[in-house]
Amino acid sequence: MKRSRVLLALAVLCTASCFGNSAAEEVRAQFTERELARILRTALVAPMPDPTNAFEGNADAIDLGRRLFYDQRLSGNGEVSCASCHDPAQGWTDGRQKAVGVNETGAHTPALTNVAHNRWFFWDGRADSLWSQALQPIEHPDEQGGSRLQTLHLLAEDPDLAELYGRVFGELPQEEVREAYPRNGRPVPEEPEHAHQLAWASLSEQQQQEVNLIFSNAGKAIAAFERCITTNSTAFDRFVDGLRTGDADDLAAISAEARSGAALFFGEARCHLCHSGQMLSDLEFHDVRVPRSGDVEPGRWDGIAALVADPFNGAGVYSDDKSQSANVELRHLRRTRHNAGEFKTPSLRDVSRTAPYMHSGAFSTLEEVVEHYSTLEGAAPFTHEDSERVLIPLNLDQAEKRQLVAFLRSLTAPLPAPSLLAPAAALKQSVVANHNL
Ligand code: HEC
Ligand code: HEC
Repeated sequence: MKRSRVLLALAVLCTASCFGNSAAEEVRAQFTERELARILRTALVAPMPDPTNAFEGNADAIDLGRRLFYDQRLSGNGEVSCASCHDPAQGWTDGRQKAVGVNETGAHTPALTNVAHNRWFFWDGRADSLWSQALQPIEHPDEQGGSRLQTLHLLAEDPDLAELYGRVFGELPQEEVREAYPRNGRPVPEEPEHAHQLAWASLSEQQQQEVNLIFSNAGKAIAAFERCITTNSTAFDRFVDGLRTGDADDLAAISAEARSGAALFFGEARCHLCHSGQMLSDLEFHDVRVPRSGDVEPGRWDGIAALVADPFNGAGVYSDDKSQSANVELRHLRRTRHNAGEFKTPSLRDVSRTAPYMHSGAFSTLEEVVEHYSTLEGAAPFTHEDSERVLIPLNLDQAEKRQLVAFLRSLTAPLPAPSLLAPAAALKQSVVANHNL
């Protein structure tokens, strides 16, 4: 009796694992070895540390950064926070073709999921760290329209922010010292008579450096928070786990249609040439000839110039590690003619939530994006005779287009955890959760 039970248990175990393995073999056989290797490389690991930000893992810095991310008081009109455009409920973007802050802007809002994996930030790569990126929208006249002096006064005058800031970065200037600083101001060197520039120019060099240091610290806190915006449990991630372990449930996490889409994406359709690795992006810049109505956009060409000139870049005085090793990529950055018209390959994680698409928001649906790659009809002309020639019309049939879209949809992550939402919203959510208990 006892013995037969053991045998029965063994038989069940064997069936489960044998079935698992043969199911796995069948699924694996859909892909070539190379496609499989590319698929396995999409498994997400923690982002590399950023040596230029010493406060990344600091819990108080994360708390301060979270508050600042959702704080409309950083803006010139008191109405725009980072989250106005990077809304966690909409895949950390805004659903608009072009972003609208204090005014209408010229670009589509990128998503922030797993954003710390990037090595360059913005569509044109004009920032080389998350913290230096965060400073730009605060001061951009169309985005938040705020200023570094306004940021300093906000940090010092809000008791909660001041306390958190003090714990992480040390004391803010006392009231007597702060009185010497105008309420508002930022460098606007191209407009000497601009009120912000006049206020900025009224400060001594030492005062300007102190304000810059506090401003860069605000950026470092925001970056510490943004680094927590991660996800890994998409249906596709489960499928990739299944390929590795043979687990039948994981292998069934995506449909047969999405599997065929993955085979195309990592194989014949050659999407992986640019969309590779854990972000489904090479994190570099290309020209995919997105249709446009106006002139050639400079893209990466201008981005490199702006980055090299940025006093907040990784080699600048506000970086926590200015060494050669911390800034290898920045030091080796060279601008070539190819860079004109190039934009950063976006991550495709969560892409089903982040319509419309491309740096200009030119396409409203994933179907339209796939149609573009399939026919290149209406594609912008080559920027110059040396332009990248990787894209060729794929002439996909209807079934293949549906497969690619099904694959892209399998990259959708669960909604963000309450710890990433606005402090007040998270509180409301947990009250509702408790109430339901
Ligand atoms: C008015 C809407 C708006 C506001 C407000 C805004 N952003 Fe953005 N964000 C954008 C747009 C548009 C871009 C792309 C701009 C470009 O590349 O030229 C962008 C780019 C980014 C990127 C780069 C992502 C990448 O993959 O390269 C990050 C990170 C980011 N924003 C974080 C922030 C933070 C932090 C704040 C608040 C301090 C903020 N944004 C405020 C619209 C906004
Ligand atoms: C030559 C490099 C390259 C190849 C090959 C490529 N892409 Fe892209 N992809 C990009 C770049 C760069 C962008 C952003 C372009 C822009 O905004 O101007 C992009 C944008 C996208 C977007 C929009 C994402 C968003 O958030 O806006 C999707 C979806 C996409 N690609 C899917 C694919 C698929 C599917 C394939 C294969 C059929 C493919 N790509 C092939 C480089 C490439």
